[in-house]
Amino acid sequence: MTIFSVHSTIFSRASVVLLSTNGFKRFSFASSFSSTAVYSPPLPKMKKRRYPIVSAVDIGGVTIARNDVVRDDDPTNNVPDSIFSKLGMQLHRRDKHPIGILKNAIYNYFDSNYAKKFEKFEDLSPIVTTKQNFDDVLVPADHVSRSLNDTYYVDSQTVLRCHTSAHQAELLRKGHSRFLVTGDVYRRDSIDSTHYPVFHQMEGFCVFSPEDWNESGMDPTLYAAEDLKKCLEGLARHLFGSVEMRWVDTYFPFTNPSFELEIYFKDDWLEVLGCGVTEQGILKQSGLENNVAWAFGLGLERLAMVLFDIPDIRLFWSSDERFTSQFGKGELGVKFKPFSKYPPCYKDISFWISESFTENNFCEVVRGIAGDLAEEVKLIDNFTNKKGMTSHCYRIVFRSMERSLTDEEVNALQSKVRDEVERKLNVELR
Ligand code: DAH
Repeated sequence: MTIFSVHSTIFSRASVVLLSTNGFKRFSFASSFSSTAVYSPPLPKMKKRRYPIVSAVDIGGVTIARNDVVRDDDPTNNVPDSIFSKLGMQLHRRDKHPIGILKNAIYNYFDSNYAKKFEKFEDLSPIVTTKQNFDDVLVPADHVSRSLNDTYYVDSQTVLRCHTSAHQAELLRKGHSRFLVTGDVYRRDSIDSTHYPVFHQMEGFCVFSPEDWNESGMDPTLYAAEDLKKCLEGLARHLFGSVEMRWVDTYFPFTNPSFELEIYFKDDWLEVLGCGVTEQGILKQSGLENNVAWAFGLGLERLAMVLFDIPDIRLFWSSDERFTSQFGKGELGVKFKPFSKYPPCYKDISFWISESFTENNFCEVVRGIAGDLAEEVKLIDNFTNKKGMTSHCYRIVFRSMERSLTDEEVNALQSKVRDEVERKLNVELR
């Protein structure tokens, strides 16, 4: 079974769901196209926190106050402090961090292969409107990605972007026609070694004019699709060397036709990115109805885990020198040497769920209490009794990447998890 179900693209097909290591639902655009958004009430805000509350963050020189993003007064708001504190981190802008090293390697590819420059944006605020995140890129009104269960809402019109595609339309409107957008993106999700509620994506966009395709005598859509494939195959070779690749047809709301690129890596097919020929509706919004364009989106963590042999997505956030000192500017693909694997500690929790229960809400409680000490949350038992009551049993794996945890510490965490789950999720502990 494929190990990497890590976020690559989030709006893609069902395979991500099938490949998931723990059986949880992942939000994926194609497979969930016609499903109705699930309402899951936002969690009451945590009172006790493992981490000090950050009161403001700096995003590209703009100070954002906690109270503007973590709002107790707005019933739609579901942004916890643990997520707010990630807003200004911008791992993709650190030249000695695997995410930054990978981004620079992709920049190099575009700089050296394209005479016409791709403009680069990496400092656009992750706080965007629902119009930018969904409507402008033609995400259907009932799409599951719009639900409070899947996306972090600041208020009913404002979200933490869940993909870098949120910037396509705005940049087109401003007159940009070839660009790369890199940034942190946010998704409510389950807990395991390849999923984290914040990760990084790079978006590529390229507009063509009639003079570009006229000479070729090709149909414009075909012309764009061919150019796109050539570009991305070159990028994959630039990053991975001479690998076997294949194209898989898929669905995205923003492109038609849509494809995923897979490469054969360590005995398995690995999905690397999503892409396609941009829907005319998106170009039309910017007066580009006589043009065609291609676009792609790739998940940087997923590629970096493979290229640098990084086994756990939490490591990207570690400030432990034993991690950070292993990477240098421009050194793509240096293999990470695990410093030591500290012992895991397993704790089970069982409860009768209510109708409003969702696994993402449960995971948010666990992360709010244990932070990055929560390595995995796995549903290990699920049954419905004769009275129609449904019981879930979850196994939580606690493990630090930096030290051994004591029994007392883990017991205290688990006891807090039990308290908060009962108090906030309207479930009955068993
Ligand atoms: N936004 C998509 C996701 O997060 C990735 C993607 C797919 C971006 C196709 C694109 C594209 O620009 O054309 O899953």
